[in-house]
Parts: sequence; structure tokens; C-alpha cells
Amino acid sequence: MPTKTDYLHTPVEHLDITEHNVVGLVEAMNHTAFSARDLARAADITDRMICDKDCGIILCLAGSLISAGMKKVFVDALRCNMVDAIVSTGANIVDQDFFEALGFRHYVGEEKLRSGMFDAELRELAIDRIYDTLIDEEELRVCDETTRIIADELEARPHSSREFIRAMGEYLPIFCPAFSDCSAGFGLVAHQHSRGDGPKVAIDSAKDFYELTQLKIQNPTTGLFMVGGGVPKNFAQDIVVAADILGKEAPMHKYAIQITVADARDGALSGSTLKEASSWGKVDLAYEQMVYSEATLALPLILGFAYHKGNWRTRQARRWSRLLEPVTAS
Ligand SMILES: NC(=O)c1ccc[n+]([C@@H]2O[C@H](COP(=O)([O-])OP(=O)(O)OC[C@H]3O[C@@H](n4cnc5c(N)ncnc54)[C@H](O)[C@@H]3O)[C@@H](O)[C@H]2O)c1
Repeated sequence: MPTKTDYLHTPVEHLDITEHNVVGLVEAMNHTAFSARDLARAADITDRMICDKDCGIILCLAGSLISAGMKKVFVDALRCNMVDAIVSTGANIVDQDFFEALGFRHYVGEEKLRSGMFDAELRELAIDRIYDTLIDEEELRVCDETTRIIADELEARPHSSREFIRAMGEYLPIFCPAFSDCSAGFGLVAHQHSRGDGPKVAIDSAKDFYELTQLKIQNPTTGLFMVGGGVPKNFAQDIVVAADILGKEAPMHKYAIQITVADARDGALSGSTLKEASSWGKVDLAYEQMVYSEATLALPLILGFAYHKGNWRTRQARRWSRLLEPVTAS
């Protein structure tokens, strides 16, 4: 019978956009067709967002991007001041990023595992599979338990996910509108159960929405860089409408990029075009671009282009966290 180490031996390595100058390649794509030209236009719009001194940039993340080796791409974008806020699924932030911050790794799964024939064996060994990536379920349980410990130490009241994630050690606004739908949910279930009828920590998703809307009101020019679709896409787009409902002047998102494999045939939000979002008053039409590609292909090219263009060097830091209320731990 194989053991865990027979499967979990080669960690996923995070791709480093700083090591590969793709500017020439992406510029050449401008003179081709189909997805390559779309990608080149998306890269150009991303660079415009960075150069626009009024524009606050919101990064939206769905799918499994950190486990897929994209962590350093985002870290470099943050460190280089190319992003002001993140709206993400809990899976990316908790199950994957926080998980790696706890010292755990994701592992490369061998080609044969994609057949599904070994999934029962993986289950026996407490190994979870995401397509060609493997995770030690016992380590994931540590992540769940750490979330419970953090909840136990917080003031027993509803928190926005941003407040909770800040307590997890972050410094910029990160929102997970569906925060309980990931490893954090297991920790929060354990926390709420242990408190019985007493005061307990809860996640206030309306507060998330209100806080993100406040950022839009205070910084009306915004751009969205969306990787995948799902809840982060809609949540970030909707702050324009929310600001309007609050009686505040807030223009549509001036820039919008979406990298996705979903398209309009799905009949769902994730594949709806950014042009369609314009009919809802959410996204301006001048600088929008859908890129139909799996994200691990397109993302390093687009953000690598922006990185090597270097216009982020003169971009002013927004420090949006400071616009929101301070977080108090009990
Ligand atoms: N993805 C995971 O492994 C995982 C694990 C645990 C919990 N969850 C939870 O499930 C919920 C849904 O998450 P989700 O983001 O997986 O939903 P999802 O799979 O519905 O993704 C949303 C959209 O983004 C697109 N997309 C996702 N990854 C992409 C990629 N690599 N390239 C291009 N397009 C991509 C998909 O096509 C889809 O249209 C969230 O609350 C999340 O926290 C997800």
C-alpha cells in the first residue's frame, strides 16, 4: 500500500513574473488575431489602469489559483502597488494562501491521477485532489482549526470578512463575500458550536458590501482585474449600483478585464460579458476586455507585461485599509 510521501513529494512552485520579460511577446500578439490579440488588449488596458493616477484597482479571484502556482504573481502585483483591494473566494485566501502561510505546500499530482482511478486510494490516504494538484487533508484540518482559534480570540460580534482576514495577518483590504464556503467555514462552525447560546463571532457579508462600496464612494474611478468569475466578479461590479442606492455619485468601473473559461453559453454570471455588465450600469465600455483562457496561461502574460512595463513605479499607494474602521481584537 503506498504511503502519503509516495504522492506528496514534489511541491508546486510559484511562477515568478519578474524573471521573464514578456513585453515583446505580448506586444507582438497585438498584430495577430483571436485570443492572442484579446490578451494583448487586456494587457494594454491593465497598464492604462496602472497609469491612471485616479484609478483604484480591485483584483477579483475565483477558482484555485494559489494552489496552481499563481501566488507569487499576486504577491508581486501587490508589492509593486498594482492592486488596492482584493475580492476573492475563501478557497484562494484561506484553504490555499493562508494554508501555505502556515507552512504547508501544494503538491504536483502525477499525470495518471487525472484519470480518477486513484481517487479512492487518495481518499484512504487523506489526500485531496484538484485536477493535477494534491493537498494533505490533515494539514488542511490544521488550517480549519487555526481559523477556529482566531475566531475564539476575536470580539464576539459580527465581523466583515475583511476584518477577519486582517486578523489573519493581512494589511490591505481583502474581502471574501462567501467567507464560510471554504476552510474558514469549518473553523467558524466549530467556534459557533463551542459558544452555544453565548455571544459568538459571525461573518457579516452585508458589512463586506458596505465597506467595499465605501471605497468606491471615496475613490470613484476604479478598475477591475478579474481572474475567473463567480461571487467576486458580481460583488465587485455591484458596488457601483450600491453607491447609487446610497444616493452617491459613482461612475461605472472605468476599466475591466476578465480572464475566464466560462462564456455566455453557460447562461450564468461567470460567463456574462463585460459589455452586458454595461447594460446594468456597472462597467464602462471604453476599456473592457474579456480574455477566454485558463488563468494560469493568461495571467502571467498580462501581469508580467504590466510588471515589466514598470509604470507601477510611479503609481501612488492608496492604502485603502485606512479608509475603513480600525479592527479591534478583544
Ligand atoms: N476552487 C476550489 O478548489 C474550492 C475549494 C474549496 C472551496 N471552494 C469554494 O467554492 C465556491 C466557488 O468557488 P470557485 O471559484 O471554485 O467557483 P467556480 O468554479 O464556479 O468558478 C467561478 C468561475 O470562474 C471561472 N474560473 C475558475 N477558475 C478559472 C481558471 N483557472 N481560469 C479561467 N477561469 C476560471 C470558472 O469557469 C467559473 O466560471 C467559493 O465559495 C470557494 O471558496 C472552492
